[in-house]
Amino acid sequence: MQNAMRRIVVTGLGAVTPLAVGVLPTWRRLINGECGIVNITNRDPKFSSLPSQIAGIIPASLRHGDGGWNPKDWLRPGDDRKMALFAQYAMASADEALRDANWRPESEEDLQATGVYIGSGIGSLDDAYNTAVEFEKGGYKKVSPLFVPRLLINLAAGHISMRYGFKGPNHAATTACTTGVHAIGDAARMIAFGDADVMVAGGAESCIHPLAIAGFSRARSLATEWNDRPQEASRPFDNARAGFVIGEGAGVVVLEELEHAKARGASIYAEVRGYGLSSDAHHMTAPREDGQGPCLAMKRALKQAGIKPSKVDYVNAHATSTVLGDAAENRAIKTLLLGEEGYASAMQINASSTKGAVGHLLGAAGAAETIFTVLALKDDILPPTLNLRQAGDPASDFDCNYVPNTAQDCKVQVALSNSFGFGGTNASICLSKYEG
Ligand SMILES: *[C@@H]1O[C@H](CO)[C@@H](O)[C@H](O)[C@H]1NC(C)=O
Ligand SMILES: *[C@@H]1O[C@H](CO)[C@@H](O)[C@H](O)[C@H]1NC(C)=O
Ligand SMILES: *[C@@H]1O[C@H](CO)[C@@H](O)[C@H](O)[C@H]1NC(C)=O
Repeated sequence: MQNAMRRIVVTGLGAVTPLAVGVLPTWRRLINGECGIVNITNRDPKFSSLPSQIAGIIPASLRHGDGGWNPKDWLRPGDDRKMALFAQYAMASADEALRDANWRPESEEDLQATGVYIGSGIGSLDDAYNTAVEFEKGGYKKVSPLFVPRLLINLAAGHISMRYGFKGPNHAATTACTTGVHAIGDAARMIAFGDADVMVAGGAESCIHPLAIAGFSRARSLATEWNDRPQEASRPFDNARAGFVIGEGAGVVVLEELEHAKARGASIYAEVRGYGLSSDAHHMTAPREDGQGPCLAMKRALKQAGIKPSKVDYVNAHATSTVLGDAAENRAIKTLLLGEEGYASAMQINASSTKGAVGHLLGAAGAAETIFTVLALKDDILPPTLNLRQAGDPASDFDCNYVPNTAQDCKVQVALSNSFGFGGTNASICLSKYEG
């Protein structure tokens, strides 16, 4: 581990979210308190027969450059046949992040030092479903030769490396809703360990499919009582919260070894200080009530960073708007930040969930939220938790500052971003302002 002291910084950001295509329009709308969740029954008649009929979907483009999704802006001819939608979102986000980082290497050495790590929670359910139906009806000849490459989750990372010629590590995590943070945290470790100097890392998801909604509804995970008021459905920490809203999109960051970034004069958004992983070892889908798993993940991230709990200015919470999950995470945040070397009062703790605005992007959530956390550090602003009228329940447990409905100005020096997933997997990443 002779490279263990290598420091890692964030030098580029890219995102496709239900608020907009692109990091800056997404961030502007997020800070304005806007919401990207809509009624989706017009997309497929099957949605109308399901308990949840809303989702955070990528806005379609009205014209070039308006913040909507137009695959032609990002893809080369034929790419849309080769790439499933989640991989297209990853490609667009990687392209934005690489331009933002101004990293377009051409030398063999630089190409070999650059890797790609993009995960997805579910991958292309559309392809699996449609191909199964076609195969059942028409047999072998109905299966496209592109079926397997569109289906495989690691092909998002594969396509990105092929387009740019990156020959460093090429990897993909698929750890449900923790995927995005695992991808970024693992990629940072690869740089720290010397496997690469630059990593293009994040998560992508696009499974707004009737079968996915049916499955998550059966698991009793989704908000079903808000179909006539989609913008109010995702309400993290609110006492009327009753399940998450599915969303799609991608988030990609460019991570870079500090000296490498300095040597080429890159502008630095933030430093990755710590990364903690843990397991609940408890239940397939339900969290432990005491939030031990998330608490351990955050604690490990801070320990690695060498930062005391009382120095955490902001937590971008995983909080998906479920009754049990938000309560457990709230408990975990308070246990850690009010514990040893922590704050004196919960009112000093700033934690918001941006899922009120975008819904739950599943495998992309942790990546998009890491980007929001980076921008909170950069702009000294806390993004709001939408639809938070009365925190609870019970209100006495929910006594932190959850940044209800309106963004707040706040000096943000250190922040955590949390992601937790089915299977009991929890991760937290610690970021700080970069100080030379
Ligand atoms: C969703 O939109 C459709 C029209 O696009 C409308 O008919 C339907 O009533 C809406 N659903 C709800 C629950 O409001
Ligand atoms: C929490 O946010 C408020 C601004 O809303 C700020 O005054 C306060 O200092 C923040 N707390 C911490 C610990 O940064
Ligand atoms: C930790 O991971 C589990 C996995 O099922 C997840 O359900 C849970 O929400 C996470 N813990 C908490 C308290 O959120």
